[in-house]
Amino acid sequence: MPSPSLESVARILHEVRQAREIVVFSGAGLSADSGIPTFRDGSTGLWNNVDPDEVASIEGFLRQPRVVWDWLLQLKHLVDDRSPNAGHRAIARLEEICATKRLTIITQNIDGYHARAGNDDVLEVHGTIHRLRCHRRCGFVAVWQQDAVEPFPCPDCGGPVRPDLVLFGEALDEEVFAAAELRSINADVFFCVGTSFTVQPAARLPLWARSSGATVVEVNPHPTPLSDAVDYSIRSGASQFFSALCARLDHV
Ligand code: APR
Repeated sequence: MPSPSLESVARILHEVRQAREIVVFSGAGLSADSGIPTFRDGSTGLWNNVDPDEVASIEGFLRQPRVVWDWLLQLKHLVDDRSPNAGHRAIARLEEICATKRLTIITQNIDGYHARAGNDDVLEVHGTIHRLRCHRRCGFVAVWQQDAVEPFPCPDCGGPVRPDLVLFGEALDEEVFAAAELRSINADVFFCVGTSFTVQPAARLPLWARSSGATVVEVNPHPTPLSDAVDYSIRSGASQFFSALCARLDHV
């Protein structure tokens, strides 16, 4: 995979050093180096092998809860068995280097790897595979333990319990997404890493950042629909780019 050109890293370095507020907006491609399959990449993309309406939609869950539960549980097992990669660790290092700035992670990923790598300010706009909640939002939440192998009724209200993540056909958590919008609009530098910008409304965040004056940097080995609209479109893997960026920032 090509490493980012030194000239582009140097230009981006300058923008990061001048920035007060930085956002890293991440998608499944960031976790690819951890061995977690992306959703739409070539033949390995998860959605090339299963129908998301069957295994990851609210309509599918209400129709066949066990099918959705089983599919998400196998994804949880994979996430629990793997770990954050050099890209996650470099982004956590970026937070340390930029201690005098505000660095926000806005992630579409449900694996919890940013927090495990050490980032503190993480907005999980699609929720998390590590938590369960009552579908009726009565207030019941619980850590999803691996022995919870099948759907069960809410102990508080009897409603269905489901993973605390956004299934297809569901709205995002309004409070979380409002925070993500605000951070995007206030960002001076907005990194987009490992996303195909396929799913709304999350895919709008970089455009809102750009229209509010942020420098938008895309990091992806392949071009995306946003590549022509960003300031820098870096053809690189996440681990290589963010490791190079932190190495250069460390040599102030
Ligand atoms: N580094 C950076 N980017 C990578 C890497 C890598 N090592 N490997 C792959 N990519 C890129 C691919 O080129 C692709 O553009 O990551 C992107 C992954 O795209 P998707 O699989 O569509 O994942 P994502 O954009 O996160 O999907 C958004 O869709 O299915 C829903 O809720 C799910 O959050 C997900 C949302």
